Amino acid sequence: MTEQTKITALDNGPYLVKGPVVVTDAEGNEFRVERETIALCRCGGSTTKPFCDGTHSKAGFRAAERAVREEEEGQG
Ligand code: FES
Repeated sequence: MTEQTKITALDNGPYLVKGPVVVTDAEGNEFRVERETIALCRCGGSTTKPFCDGTHSKAGFRAAERAVREEEEGQG
């Protein structure tokens, strides 16, 4: 069975990516990824983009999205 990659949007923080992944720049050059789980910046403040360096905490980044279940989409 092939391992599935999982991306988790952390409350007020980065995207955690766990599983096999290749991260490239705009020219297709690969970033060296040595960990099983990486954190990708989504606040825009990291000095090590595309990776999170913890700046989101100092910057007060706020994002706590939740996935909407199908049965909830039709309500409202
Ligand atoms: S999400 Fe962590 S530095 Fe941007």
